[in-house]
Amino acid sequence: MFNFVQKRFKVLRIWKIGVQSVTGFEEQYRARTQKSFNMFQEASKYLPGGVAGNGKFIEPYPIYVRNARGARLWDIDGYEYTDLLMGAGVHILGHSPKVVLDAVKKQMEKGIHYYMPAEAEVKLGKKVCQLMSAIDMVRFVNTGTESTQMALRTARAYRKKDRIGKFEGNFHGQHDSVLISALSTAGEPNNLLPSIDSAGIPKAFAQDVLILPYNDIDGTLSSIRKDAKDLGAVIVEPVSAFGLGSIPADKEFLKAVREITIENDIPLIFDEVVTNFRLALGGAAEFFGVKPDLVCLGKILGGGFAIGGYGGRKDIMDKMVTPKTGLWDLKEQIFQSGCFSGNPITMTAGLVVLDELEKKNIYPRLNSITEKLQDGLIEIGEQFEYDMLVTGVSSILQIHFGIKDIRNKRDAMKANKAMAKTFHLGLRAKGIMASAHPLFLSTEHTEKDVNHILEVTEIVLKEMQSFN
Ligand SMILES: Cc1ncc(COP(=O)(O)O)c(C=O)c1O
Repeated sequence: MFNFVQKRFKVLRIWKIGVQSVTGFEEQYRARTQKSFNMFQEASKYLPGGVAGNGKFIEPYPIYVRNARGARLWDIDGYEYTDLLMGAGVHILGHSPKVVLDAVKKQMEKGIHYYMPAEAEVKLGKKVCQLMSAIDMVRFVNTGTESTQMALRTARAYRKKDRIGKFEGNFHGQHDSVLISALSTAGEPNNLLPSIDSAGIPKAFAQDVLILPYNDIDGTLSSIRKDAKDLGAVIVEPVSAFGLGSIPADKEFLKAVREITIENDIPLIFDEVVTNFRLALGGAAEFFGVKPDLVCLGKILGGGFAIGGYGGRKDIMDKMVTPKTGLWDLKEQIFQSGCFSGNPITMTAGLVVLDELEKKNIYPRLNSITEKLQDGLIEIGEQFEYDMLVTGVSSILQIHFGIKDIRNKRDAMKANKAMAKTFHLGLRAKGIMASAHPLFLSTEHTEKDVNHILEVTEIVLKEMQSFN
């Protein structure tokens, strides 16, 4: 059940990374991505970095995609890739599953966006509440960022407290309250301080954020205890994906956080944007056996379309979110709306995917094929005597270099990022779509794909050695 994976092997050799190794793969990459390069140059005139989001800016320039299906992508130069990014964890059933396309086409005939509510929204809401035991009521929004923003607003309104507790290295999207100590650190390990991760975030936001040490029970409990009366919420990623590098929380740690938040009546929020319907149908709450008060949703929930959502205990959601008749009392309740929230296309796609997941019990095979990939990666790394760490859980994985173990942000920052960058560039130059980002498998990935990824990994590691 708790198939937490953090596999490693000994450092047998200090591996030297030189500019030369980057150049080797870069030449191969450039040779096959001429059209992407041209498009990047054109794109960069109009789109900062040639992309719609920093996460998509992969050096030296991104591959521009022509189309995708199943576990594959094709770029505009005509090359095929085995995809390990899978829409950043969105496509658990692979790209463009037929059931989703059929249902969405049908819905499109009936209308694309109404603003008024429709049946699909009700059905998806009911389904989410049935599948996730921590959710009695849910609101749909458009991104994971909005999910965490609104869940935090709800909790703060409920507790009538502004301050929040968040864990160092946990990423909760890009709004001003949470892009703090997600990507960077400040202070000493036993005295974490808020570190603003982006220019343009007012310093005042940091003052209302208590930074907590991930996977450290004693440190977390003593910090929460000290600040308990001021905390409106504690938010945590049950698996810290983007910020830490796909590092699961210890079950005992989540339990301890749950207990202390109950003791002090502080709403506990699980950010399940990545883990919802990925770890289990009931998400991280089911997987870890720990029930939060509020849950943030996203990614898989939208069936491939933009989505976010947040929900939880009826008494909190009803009191803070349900509009009361007459004028809304926005002194007591939160404002939350959105032009595209609950649009019928996204709702239809999400419902189809959740129905499929419910019908097919995909998890045992998906997890075992991921484990096969993880084991194979480790074995190959060992063969080449590289210091390579494979982290992850269920069908999430990530590959790190130059580090034996990662439990928190301080550890993650010690990993050799340059080596990881070279390795992933090598994979992309040879038809595996991966970057130093959490990687995801889908039901469309086969044993043959896993073997192919492993063969390419072997070639990449061999070439990395020869570059030095
Ligand atoms: C845990 C977590 N929360 C929130 C977000 C933000 O989601 P979005 O990119 O949809 O705004 C992400 C994005 O990857 C995430 O990983």
